[in-house]
Amino acid sequence: MNQIYTRLINREHPLPEDYIPDNLVDIGLPFDAPPHDPKRLLEEKTALAAAELISRSRREGLNICCVSGYRSYQRQKELFTASTYVAPPGTSEHQSGLALDVSCPGVRMELTEAFAETSEGLWLTRHAPLYGFILRYPSGKESITQIPYEPWHFRYVTKPLATYLSLTGMTLEEYHLLQKENAESG
Ligand code: DAL
Ligand code: ZN
Repeated sequence: MNQIYTRLINREHPLPEDYIPDNLVDIGLPFDAPPHDPKRLLEEKTALAAAELISRSRREGLNICCVSGYRSYQRQKELFTASTYVAPPGTSEHQSGLALDVSCPGVRMELTEAFAETSEGLWLTRHAPLYGFILRYPSGKESITQIPYEPWHFRYVTKPLATYLSLTGMTLEEYHLLQKENAESG
């Protein structure tokens, strides 16, 4: 399996400044962003998985809207300078094209904690892993992820890993630590 999907990206494990996925696509997901805005881009498998997830949610009467996908190193740098609520450049999963921020009309498409209590937010926590996504920055795990609770930020990690993480309640940091310990103990 391509290692990028399960890769840990955080302050201790940044992406190179010049990392740009070579398979970024805009497949017409429902984005709250104008045509050709780079934030509509996602890594290809991530985009296809998000399309399946969103179409199922639509069939169930929900209105998930995409807010932010890919962000270049440079764009992350601009955002970080303006607000410390985003990860420093190089340490954001958005640079990998594997992260997607979502919201819904019930909270005016905002990236807010209130999204967690909407029908869309509640539905996503249960269904996202079936499509390969994890809620990357859960409540109660802030000391491990080093990121405040973000009920809107989903990360594509493939179905097997998303299922495993959701069943065990582990973050990606805890999973990688366990892998390292297992490798070291032979
Ligand atoms: N807000 C998340 C952590 C990011 O900037 O990637
Ligand atoms: Zn995000």
